[in-house]
Parts: sequence; structure tokens; C-alpha cells
Amino acid sequence: MDFQFTEEHLMIQKAARDFAVNELLPGVIERDEHQKFPAEQIKKLGELGFLGMMVSPKYGGAGLDTISYVLAMEEISKVDASASVVMSVNNSLVCWGLETFGTEEQKQKYLVPLASGQIIGAFMLSEPEAGSDATSQRTIAEDKGDHYLVNGTKNWITNGGSASVYLVMAQTHPEKGSKGINALIIEKDTPGITIGPKENKLGIRGSDTHSVMFQDVKVPKENRIGEDGFGFKFAMKTLAGGRIGIASQALGIASGAFELALKYSKERKAFGKEISQHQAIQFKLADMATKIEAARLLCLKAAWEKDQHLDYTLSGSMAKVFASETAMWVATEAVQVHGGYGYVKEYHVERLMRDAKITQIYEGTSEIQRIVISRSILS
Ligand code: CAA
Repeated sequence: MDFQFTEEHLMIQKAARDFAVNELLPGVIERDEHQKFPAEQIKKLGELGFLGMMVSPKYGGAGLDTISYVLAMEEISKVDASASVVMSVNNSLVCWGLETFGTEEQKQKYLVPLASGQIIGAFMLSEPEAGSDATSQRTIAEDKGDHYLVNGTKNWITNGGSASVYLVMAQTHPEKGSKGINALIIEKDTPGITIGPKENKLGIRGSDTHSVMFQDVKVPKENRIGEDGFGFKFAMKTLAGGRIGIASQALGIASGAFELALKYSKERKAFGKEISQHQAIQFKLADMATKIEAARLLCLKAAWEKDQHLDYTLSGSMAKVFASETAMWVATEAVQVHGGYGYVKEYHVERLMRDAKITQIYEGTSEIQRIVISRSILS
């Protein structure tokens, strides 16, 4: 067992850290307050290869491993979780799904611009009445011979307003349940698509979350991913990797909040000494550091399994549930260490606390991760 990172891993980690500090930190409070999508920053992330990190260079990607992805996600998320969710969805859900299951034509047409950051993508599974219960898809993709006719509504779509390409799950054979669902590549400009208003969220307020409505949207058959009825498996397999991305996002939020709390505890004085010299604070810092390290190891284990082509469904869900609960706890404690200052925007920790919450909800709630974990250990 080797816990050493390679030179390349350390280089990527540093590049992501420098980008976060130099490009994302300035303006992050304002973007959060005004719900401003970090368009310029996402463009630069794409130019640096962070939007198609694990995609083969043959398809415009950076050709890196999943460990590098975890390291980069952690660094970007320490500073701006609104930017890192865009990165996570594009890398894990959109690019990975297309590279693994798409046809050569689909890869040339869609993966190349997505992986090289010329455009971004969105993954559309959730619906008003199909969140955790993802098999209950109401969006219909009616088989019309050479094309599908898509009708329905997708909810809570990350990149819903800014993506140019959507991967949409829709039901073609309702009588077959999850085996009747198809995954379709739909271009944003296709007639019949309406994008709802941007959601006014508690956290990750810079990210672009919308409902997307489909009315008689014509999708050519060649835009289906995999065999007829493969859509639900496609979504589940893709989400298994997506959970490593969101676990790493949660890890980054936790470590960002911890670093701020540590720094503040060495500066702030109370009762005649720095608050870091009080055991009440020392115990908090010790618990934060320990939980973060455990979360990091779970993320890296899941990433390593993925790179070794092992089954990472269990480890990815374990990483996601533990890292997201760690993020929520650490960020809340980081606010506590800051006292009143933690409650105002300039100190960043209140934003990290708000951002942490979504990591327990999207790409499968903590309850869903526990279902996946318990099914795996009981089977
Ligand atoms: N890999 C491959 N196949 C899988 C799978 C996996 N990880 N998980 C399930 N399947 C297969 C099952 O084997 C089954 O196939 P068979 O009938 O051939 O055996 C089929 O899929 C149906 O599975 P289940 O019977 O287990 O389905 P279920 O209704 O019990 O639900 C669930 C399973 C795990 C709860 C699933 O519905 C789930 O993960 N729900 C959460 C959905 C989710 O994560 N949504 C996130 C939206 S995306 C997002 O948030 C992105 C963003 O914006 C950041």
C-alpha cells in the first residue's frame, strides 16, 4: 500500500490550488450574494483541462486519473463550491458517461467540445416527482421510428441554464419500469425546450440550477446512449462515479472551513491568549482534522478503485455519505470557532456552511447512500 502521491498528482493539486486562490477567491462572496454564475472562471477551468480531466486526450481530455480529480476537486471546493459543482457534473456525469457508453460519432460530436471545455453539459435525471425514487420517470421519450419525441419536466438541473448539451433520462416503455428508460443526448437549441427561472438557493448560489421543460422535442435515434432501455443503468453507473466527485467537493468544503478556523484560532485572542490555546477550541480542531482525514482517505480509496477498474459503487457511496456529513459538521463548527465573525459573509465560513448542505442532498441523499451501502453489505 502506497500513500504517496506522484509528482504529477502534486502538480495538479498545486495548479488547482493556485487557480482557486487567484481566480476564484476574488469575487466569490459577490457571486454568492448575487447568484452570479462564474462563467469566466469556468471558461478558464476548461482551458486548463479541469472540465475533462479523466477523458482521453484523443477526445480532448487531460487523460488524468481519478486521484488527480479528487485532489483538484478538493482544492477548487475549498474556495468556491459553485464552480466545483460545474466541474464535477461535467467531468463525472457528462464526460464519463459519454466516453464510457457513447458511440464514436457521439464522442466526436459531443465529448470533444465538452472535455476540452468549449461547452458544458448537464445531466437530467431528477423530476418533480422522481428525486430519490429515480425509477419513477414521468418524462416520456416516445419511439417514433427514426427519432424520439420527448415530453416532460426535469428539476434541479445543475448547469440547466448554461449547458449546451443535456444527457436526459426518459421513459420509453413504461410497462418495463426501470428497463424501459432511455438516456438521450439532447442539444439545448432543439425546438420545444424551455428553461425555467434560476432557483434561489441556500448554498452553491453561483451555480446555475433550473427546471427544464421538454415539449414535443424531436431527438434523433442516433442520440440514444447504449441499447434501448439502458438509460436507468446508464444513470446509476454514471452516478456511482459522480458520487466520488461530490464526496471530493464535500471534502474540499470541510478542509476549506477547517483551514479558516485554524487560522482564525491562532489570531483571535480571548481570556488573555489565542483561542487556539484553549482546550475547547483544540478539541474542535482535533476532531475536524481527524474527520477530514478519514473523508479524504475514503475519497481516495474510491478513486483508486475506479482507476483500477474495480467496483467502486460501495466505496463511492461511503465516501459521499461520510464526506458530506463531515462537511456539514466541520463547516458548522468552523462558524462556531469564529463566533460572531463566522456569522457574517466576509469570513467565508457561513457560505461554506450553506454550501455544505447540498452535498448531503444531490447525487443521492445521505439516506440513498445508506440504501446503496446496506444493499451492498447485505448482498
Ligand atoms: N450500477 C448498475 N446498475 C444498477 C446500479 C448501479 N450502481 N444501481 C441499480 N442498478 C440497476 C439494478 O441492478 C436494477 O437492474 P436489474 O433489474 O437488471 O437488476 C435496476 O438498476 C433498478 O435498480 P433498483 O431495483 O435497485 O432500483 P430502485 O428503484 O430500488 O432504486 C436507488 C435504486 C439506488 C434508490 C436509485 O433510485 C438511486 O440511486 N436514487 C437516487 C438518484 C440520484 O442519485 N439522483 C441524483 C440526481 S443527479 C444530480 O444530483 C446531479 C447534480 O445536479 C449535481
